[in-house]
Amino acid sequence: MGRDPIELMSQRGLNKMRAAGRTAAELLHHLGQMVEPGVSTLAINDEAERWTTERGHVSAPLGYPGGPGSFPKSICTSVNDVVCHGIPSADQILKDGDIINIDVTPIVDGYHGDTSRTFIVGQAEDRVRELVEVTEQCLRLGIEQVRPGARLRDIGAAIQAHAEGHGFSVVRDFVGHGIGRIFHCPPQVAHYDNGDKTRLKPGMVFTIEPMINTGSWKVKVLGDGWTAKTKDGGLSAQFEHTLAVTLDGVEVLTLREGETYL
Ligand code: MF3
Ligand code: CO
Ligand code: CO
Repeated sequence: MGRDPIELMSQRGLNKMRAAGRTAAELLHHLGQMVEPGVSTLAINDEAERWTTERGHVSAPLGYPGGPGSFPKSICTSVNDVVCHGIPSADQILKDGDIINIDVTPIVDGYHGDTSRTFIVGQAEDRVRELVEVTEQCLRLGIEQVRPGARLRDIGAAIQAHAEGHGFSVVRDFVGHGIGRIFHCPPQVAHYDNGDKTRLKPGMVFTIEPMINTGSWKVKVLGDGWTAKTKDGGLSAQFEHTLAVTLDGVEVLTLREGETYL
C-alpha cells in the first residue's frame, strides 16, 4: 500500500469528473425520494438503470468483475446489517425502521462518479439515528483532512476517532479508492489509521466512504460473493463522496447543481 503510482488528473479530466460527480449526486438524490416502507430494492435499482441510460450514461456496477461472477445489478443497496455491495432484489421490501445505503456510480463520458448515502426508512430508534448521523459526520471529518501535504492516514485517523468516540467501530476490509476513467485504482483510502504516510498532492482524485458499525468491525461475505454483512449482526451505515485534491484544499465532486459542501 502507498507504493503504487497515484495518477494526477489533468484539468480536462477534472472537468469530466465534475460532470460525472454531479450526475451521480443527482441520481442519488432522485433515488432517495423513492425510499419508503413497501418499496423493493429492485424497484430502486430499476429506476436507477432507467434514469442513467435515458441520459446516455452507463451504470458502472452492472457487470463489474469481482467475486465468483460480475455484479448483477446497476447499484448497490445495503440494508441494516449489510455493510456494502448488497444486491437489489424483488424479495427485499423496505420496512419502517430499516436503514438502507444506496451506492451509485454512473459512467459519464468515460469518467466515474461514485457516491452513496444511508437513508432511514420511516422512523428509527435513537441509537440507529445516531449511527447514521455519526457516519455522515465521519465522512465530513475525513474530507476536512484533505489538502496538499496531508497524509493519507490523517483521513482514517479523523474518522476512527469520531466513530470510536461514539462507541461505534470502523470497517477495515473495504476502503476508499482512486477513481477516474477506472472505477477502482490507487490510492487505497483506509477509514482507520493504518499508518499510511503517503502525502496528498493536487490532482489526486479519490473517494472516502466510511462504513461504521454499531458492534464489531468484522465482516463476512455471503455465498453470492458480493454481499458483505457484519459478523455479529449489528447495523452498518455508510456515506461516500468522490473528491479532488486542489492547490489549497479539496473539491467535493459528487454534489448536485448549486449544492455546496464545506
Ligand atoms: N460503488 C462501490 C464503491 O464505492 C463499488 C461497487 S462495485 C459493485 O466502490 F460491483 F459492487 F457494484
Ligand atoms: Co467507492
Ligand atoms: Co460507491
